[in-house]
Amino acid sequence: FSAFLTDSFGRRHSYLRISLTEKCNLRCQYCMPEEGVPLTPKADLLTTEEILTLARLFVKEGVDKIRLTGGEPLIRPDVVNIVAQLRQLEGLRTIGITTNGINLARLLPQLQKAGLSAVNISLDTLVPAKFEFIVRRKGFHKVMEGIHKAIELGYSPVKVNCVVMRGLNEDELLDFVALTKGLPLDVRFIEYMPFDGNKWNFKKMVSYKEMLDTLQQRWPELEKLPEEESSTAKAFKIPGFQGQVSFITSMSEHFCGTCNRLRITADGNLKVCLFGNSEVSLRDHLRAGASEEELLSIIGAAVGRKKRQHAELFLTLQDSPPAVLSISFRDSLH
Ligand code: GTP
Ligand code: 5AD
Ligand code: SF4
Repeated sequence: FSAFLTDSFGRRHSYLRISLTEKCNLRCQYCMPEEGVPLTPKADLLTTEEILTLARLFVKEGVDKIRLTGGEPLIRPDVVNIVAQLRQLEGLRTIGITTNGINLARLLPQLQKAGLSAVNISLDTLVPAKFEFIVRRKGFHKVMEGIHKAIELGYSPVKVNCVVMRGLNEDELLDFVALTKGLPLDVRFIEYMPFDGNKWNFKKMVSYKEMLDTLQQRWPELEKLPEEESSTAKAFKIPGFQGQVSFITSMSEHFCGTCNRLRITADGNLKVCLFGNSEVSLRDHLRAGASEEELLSIIGAAVGRKKRQHAELFLTLQDSPPAVLSISFRDSLH
């Protein structure tokens, strides 16, 4: 495995998340302000060619999984073409996408043909009116259609990301669990994380322990599944159910120790940690004509600076998060 992608704690970064756009057709309250995020001028965004050049380089060094993210990745007009070209890269095992599901039913057949291997869909409520309140747009039925299309096309499991917020959707946990009875879903309850200005506060976050407790009271037979390496999620299953439920415990139990992710933002910055604000512009180096070796040494230096964890910050959770904890709206969690 490439020394450039191995950090000083021995973590091998074989998973690359590439943001295809900062734009989104929803305005989830926990992610974006009503007016949207300030957008980078188009000329400063990575071109498709640049995305593929970078992807090729990372895959050559050992990346075997790429996830396309956003904003909303399905807004990018050439997303199908990007998947098809990534599919040509030898050594790339998995191409995933994290989407809000609005355009999924329409595009998934083409994406699948192009080689898309995994689909994660965000859905925080099963109540249409509440959906419109949380995402500030219409589209509940389209997302459900997208989820069903993914199942119909054989994706298994189809992961459903549900950000749990007190007073908003924490009363729906068991309804989400019920969905996994007859469908091959992995419903993933996510602890609400602070972003710049997303009105996060400690009381609105529902912790893993609390969610697990709610599930166990109704389903005492809930069974823990073996941990998957470098997964963000702790998985459980109710015996006899087709699907499973998981928890993403970014706040209460971080998973930095096994982190294998790197990120490229839509404007071409390499981020070695979701929480770090030290970014290096691969785009600028590419456009200045850097050679492969030069790019690799820049990437290697950034990976080498990656911190062991962001944990100290989380141990002292208070009513409002320390400033360093905030993720800026412009890169979102995607
Ligand atoms: P898989 O590749 O299917 O395992 O999905 P994923 O969990 O890596 O990615 P997804 O885009 O579905 O993100 C779901 C949630 O995982 C996000 O809401 C975040 O809470 C969390 N997450 C993703 N990447 C990171 C990361 O690098 N650090 C932390 N702390 N959380 C992350
Ligand atoms: N806290 C937790 N998860 C979030 N996501 C977006 N914003 C937040 C937040 N503040 C989730 C989305 C998507 C995933 C990539 O990140 O719901 O499913
Ligand atoms: Fe869009 Fe995803 Fe942010 Fe919602 S969480 S506004 S779907 S980028």
